[in-house]
Amino acid sequence: MTKIGTLAALALLAATSVHAAVTSKDWGTGPDGKAVELYTVTDGDLTVTITNFGAHIVSIEAPDRAGKKADVVLGYKDLDGYLAEKKAYLGAVVGRYGNRIAKGVFTLDGKTYQIPTNNNGNALHGGTVGFDRKVWSSKTLADGVELTYVSADGEMGFPGTLTAHVKYTLEGRSLHIEYSATTDKDTVLNLTNHSYFNLGGEGSGDILGEKIMINADRYTPVDAGLIPTGKLPSVKGTPFDFLKPTAIGARIEANDEQLKIAGGYDHNFVLNGGKELHVAAKVEDPKSGRTLTVTTTEPGVQFYSGNFLDGSATGVGGKPYVKHDGFCLETQHFPDSPNHPAFPSTELKPGQVMRSTTIFTFGVAK
Ligand code: BGC
Repeated sequence: MTKIGTLAALALLAATSVHAAVTSKDWGTGPDGKAVELYTVTDGDLTVTITNFGAHIVSIEAPDRAGKKADVVLGYKDLDGYLAEKKAYLGAVVGRYGNRIAKGVFTLDGKTYQIPTNNNGNALHGGTVGFDRKVWSSKTLADGVELTYVSADGEMGFPGTLTAHVKYTLEGRSLHIEYSATTDKDTVLNLTNHSYFNLGGEGSGDILGEKIMINADRYTPVDAGLIPTGKLPSVKGTPFDFLKPTAIGARIEANDEQLKIAGGYDHNFVLNGGKELHVAAKVEDPKSGRTLTVTTTEPGVQFYSGNFLDGSATGVGGKPYVKHDGFCLETQHFPDSPNHPAFPSTELKPGQVMRSTTIFTFGVAK
């Protein structure tokens, strides 16, 4: 290429390629006196804020079909909101074990472990003080932020020192979440992000009219305590069949035992797809035109229709969050896997590295 040609090509590249920009600011002090930061990552027309307190996603600003932006995740206006959080886990990374372990008890290598229970006699999202309550160490990247938490051997009853990393990066309209972890003793883990989405914008009302496709032929029904029974029935002919896009609210009041137990959807879906990246779900808000595609390497996704939002949490826009004001798509291994040898294993051994990726891509329907 001639010199002029090269310069023209470079100018074209500069004009067309948009790179993420990352800034950070002091956001206060965590429960243990550690400094908390708020990171802002922007790429093109998507802006995401993330804090190292509990590795929460605080906000995601995405445009609608007219280009109007709204924050499409539920969140609080400041750190105090996150510190006061009781049970919603808005935007947190939950761990060491996301979702439930029956009675908080499991056996590993012949030894029985007890996790403190915090949900109807079961352990939820890692026990009474999970990873969502910790100040993670953080490192700014060119296109995002990397957060690290070292969970001590015996913390919340789990064996082994676990070093967990969560990398949030933006690439155009895709937010990549890469999890990795190592341990010094055999342990179990299940890390996921607990964002509640509302594609109409947080505080804009319920999500029942948003249409969802879940790429799952089977799901894991639960008992009265929301613990999987171990069965993996087909979704065919049930309100759990989301293979074709269906409004979240279309069958949520159906006379179905599983929906009644959970007060709506709060179930793990067994994803079609192997260990490589596969589409877990696609959601479209017919009103705003905003879309969300969730891609993951995980075998399951917890589709939770915000059934337990009870108005006790006031959102960033000043409105209390009530039932069905947001939905979660928590990519994960199945709940209570340590007690279900037939489920994909959640065990990690010294020398192994757990790696998992989930991508949230935001778009606009034609
Ligand atoms: C669980 C729900 C729970 C919610 C908030 C979800 O992952 O499946 O049952 O209410 O988290 O804690």
